[in-house]
Amino acid sequence: MSSTRKIVVTSALPYANGPIHIGHMVEYTQTDIWVRFQKLQGHECIYVCADDAHGTPIMLSAQAAGITPQQLIDRVKLEHEQDFADFLIGFDNFHSTHSEENRYFATYIYQQLKAKGHIATRTISQSYDPKAEMFLPDRFIKGECPKCGSPDQYGDNCEKCGATYDPTELKNPRSVVTGETPIEKDSEQYFFKLGDYADMLKQWTRAGHIQKEIANKMDEWLEDGLRDWDISRNAPYWGFEIPDAPGKYFYVWMDAPIGYLASFKNWCDKTGHNFDEYWSADSQAELYHFIGKDIARFHTLFFPAMLHGAGFRKPSAVFCHGFLTVDGQKMSKSRGTNIKARTYLDHLNPEYLRYYFAAKLGAGIDDIDLNLEDFMARVNSDLVGKVVNIASRCAGFISKKFDGKLSDSLSNDSLNQRFLSASASIAKDYEGREFGKAMREIMALADLANQYIDEQEPWVRIKDEAQQENVQDTCTIGINCFRQLIILLKPVLPQLAAQAEAFLNVGDLQWADLPNNLTAHSINRFKPLMTRIEKDRIEAIIEASKETTAPAAATPVIDSSIDPIAPEISYEDFAKLDLRIARIVAAKPVEKADKLLQLTLDIGNEQRNVFAGIKSAYKAEELEGKLTVMVANLAPRKMRFGLSEGMVLAAGPGGDELYILNPDTGARPGMRVK
Ligand code: MSP
Ligand code: ZN
Repeated sequence: MSSTRKIVVTSALPYANGPIHIGHMVEYTQTDIWVRFQKLQGHECIYVCADDAHGTPIMLSAQAAGITPQQLIDRVKLEHEQDFADFLIGFDNFHSTHSEENRYFATYIYQQLKAKGHIATRTISQSYDPKAEMFLPDRFIKGECPKCGSPDQYGDNCEKCGATYDPTELKNPRSVVTGETPIEKDSEQYFFKLGDYADMLKQWTRAGHIQKEIANKMDEWLEDGLRDWDISRNAPYWGFEIPDAPGKYFYVWMDAPIGYLASFKNWCDKTGHNFDEYWSADSQAELYHFIGKDIARFHTLFFPAMLHGAGFRKPSAVFCHGFLTVDGQKMSKSRGTNIKARTYLDHLNPEYLRYYFAAKLGAGIDDIDLNLEDFMARVNSDLVGKVVNIASRCAGFISKKFDGKLSDSLSNDSLNQRFLSASASIAKDYEGREFGKAMREIMALADLANQYIDEQEPWVRIKDEAQQENVQDTCTIGINCFRQLIILLKPVLPQLAAQAEAFLNVGDLQWADLPNNLTAHSINRFKPLMTRIEKDRIEAIIEASKETTAPAAATPVIDSSIDPIAPEISYEDFAKLDLRIARIVAAKPVEKADKLLQLTLDIGNEQRNVFAGIKSAYKAEELEGKLTVMVANLAPRKMRFGLSEGMVLAAGPGGDELYILNPDTGARPGMRVK
């Protein structure tokens, strides 16, 4: 075996103001499988994480709940830890960014950077809520999109047309906190001069630490030039006050990745390990960060530069993954697919989802889809129908006819040898995060074992006294196949592995145990290790995840997701609008535009090309053939992708909550709506 590696692994730190959902679980499952694989190989692999406990949203959530931020983050941390434990995520340590260790490292890193001249101060103008007496992050300002005029858009980008802009460009801007009109206010801020590290980052990007898709993105950022990064926020803010700058706090994204160091230090102090051995600039240990592609910039630019500047080692690699969709669409509260980890756990075994994610995950950044039909079919056929079935087919004969004892030797070890030799390529796939490939190889082995049992027909032979020994041999080979499959699947299915170890009457199996076949060994009575997923469980999860936003009846409350009624118009104004029934004859996604679908609309005597920001809510296929309503006399608009000749009507507060309008039966394309 190769010599023992020293490895540190992290997953991104979940925000401490909301529950863990199954989208998050893609990342923690991916990381956990990789870590368990390394441990199974005999390497020292330390997996640390923490809650990301600072920032304005947490401060305001706590305020809204009438508790202190500390109370909020304490409560959420317990919930997160329980969710992770129940999903069998084996952190070596789970800490918080609101910790003494993190205050120490954030301060230390800031002071190092400052001493070396990498911190600049400048006065800048930012949006300010005069009523709440606080500066507003972009997401806390809403108004009309400066490009398309859609109401209720966030201060950084329009979910309707995809435009990005500064909050100051919004029309009729409102503070989400108080509804006040924000004003512009000057204040001094602290900047990290990222550009000082351009050369280092250029080199680092191309040295094999980053997946190529992300490295290409980084090249773009590097070419655009690295702007100074504002690492400070004004009071009131929930975070660490910047030393020697009263009233200024570290921006949450400044101290969040430092939380990796803090959690690791906390682990070192609990276990008596030496922090520097892992984090000093000349450390021989490996360091890997698993993250979603949405937060790459923080991990591939800001964080390595900060580590480097402060004299720490840089990551060996940053591994990005894509986003989870459910049945081909973004998770949605109204469809019941925004599934909380806890809701899933209330109804199903965590290992089903771990296996399904593993079967879908590769080393790239493609999004992965949880198709609920496929999920059920795959788990039932692979885990229950193939893997567990091998044990259940062999165990009965061994217990009943041979007193629980396996044969003294394997009459033929070619099948078990074959499993052993396949393990090298499976190990390579685990190491390279090609879990989907690894699962396919493992299931191919399970097929071989089942075929072998089919051919041997132990249930026939058992009836013939002369062939009984033969049955014991067959079942011994089968049980050994099962044992090998369990080792190969152990990173994904640790709980099943533990149950199997008890059944096989063996200790904690390691990868190195693959060649050690069990012979002349007593096994325990077989109990069903895993049951099939029933469809009603999945339906129950969807039902429990559906959120309706009906306001409470007793006290009238203002539902802020409902747009206020626009100023009155005359009938003449209304008559200017030419609304038509349109049939969507074709719909397709627009390349390089996350939110847009390109629609071909039939309005009777002509066809129109329209780009609509509805991709987060609808799949192109499901729109084709549908009738809807369009504004037919809207001035055409030239977009990056072509000319948009009108607009389709849809209702909803924005985001992925969106419903296109359908006319009643009988309406035909071209009819005017009046
Ligand atoms: N707090 C930051 C990370 C700070 S790391 C120093 C954050 N938190 S998060 O809770 O929004 O997300 C945590 C991780 O889960 C991120 O890596 C994010 O990409 C991932 N995911 C969140 N939703 C996801 C999906 N729907 N699908 C896959 N991963 C998702 O970002
Ligand atoms: Zn817009």
